Amino acid sequence: MKIDQIGMWSEIKLEIIKEYVSAYTRIMENQPWCKGYVYIDAFAGAGKHISKRTGELVPGSPLNALEVKPPFTEYYFIDLDEDRADVFRQIEKDNPSVHSYHGDCNEILFKEVFPALHYDSFKRALCILDPYGLHLKWQTIKAAAELKTIDIFINFPIMDINRNVLFEDPAKAKPEDIERMNAFWGDESWKKLLYIEQTTLFGDTQHVKIDDYKTLAKEFCKRLQQIGFNDVPEPILMRNINNGPLYYLCFASQKAVAKGIVNDIFNKYRRTY
Ligand SMILES: C[S@@+](CC[C@H](N)C(=O)[O-])C[C@H]1O[C@@H](n2cnc3c(N)ncnc32)[C@H](O)[C@@H]1O
Repeated sequence: MKIDQIGMWSEIKLEIIKEYVSAYTRIMENQPWCKGYVYIDAFAGAGKHISKRTGELVPGSPLNALEVKPPFTEYYFIDLDEDRADVFRQIEKDNPSVHSYHGDCNEILFKEVFPALHYDSFKRALCILDPYGLHLKWQTIKAAAELKTIDIFINFPIMDINRNVLFEDPAKAKPEDIERMNAFWGDESWKKLLYIEQTTLFGDTQHVKIDDYKTLAKEFCKRLQQIGFNDVPEPILMRNINNGPLYYLCFASQKAVAKGIVNDIFNKYRRTY
């Protein structure tokens, strides 16, 4: 199985999620009404990575969550890659609180995971949505918002968007990449944010790019609030060693206290990174 090499920015992401996971289970353990607090890693990965910085193995977000004390009451791991899903199937054999799925998380979350997390279940969940690129669908995020029981971290994939969608001339983007962007955004309204129509001297219509990924990320956070996540802190921008933007790590919750905790964690890394 292929193990990813990860840069500093991914190590920081893992650290941020790990810190929140630790705060989350400590808080949830003390909620007498709560019948379960669930961890969902919908783009689970291989379980471990190789650090480009040190050359050493680094546990991925699922393994960090499995190590947290107190533990979550249930774990759901999903990956499209069969070998990667198999890593968690092996863990499932010895740990009845673990459930592993192979397939597209946009379908599996709907069918297998979210139905058990309705409001009257008295369960709460933390869901990590960490794709490489534009593989997450807006419908999935919306379904999580509507449940009112789930906090989410979302990797907002700037690099994929910048490389494949946000050309100066939008006609240069491939139709399949536009489709992926529409599915992630939920509709085509991102185009209106970033491009205006102008008439040329010859009477043709052309699109002119007027804004960039920063506007897109701000609007994305507003949309998270509009669909029902009450508390969305300012996301943290992850950059590569050449200062190029890679992705925003976004967080969305139903609770001001959760937003406050994540904001403090984000601010710590915003200062040092
Ligand atoms: C960035 S990695 C996840 C890393 C993991 N969160 C961590 O920090 O250890 C993204 C993973 O998503 C998987 N993937 C891609 N598309 C998917 C989909 N539609 N549903 C589920 N998994 C998918 C890939 O196979 C890959 O293992």
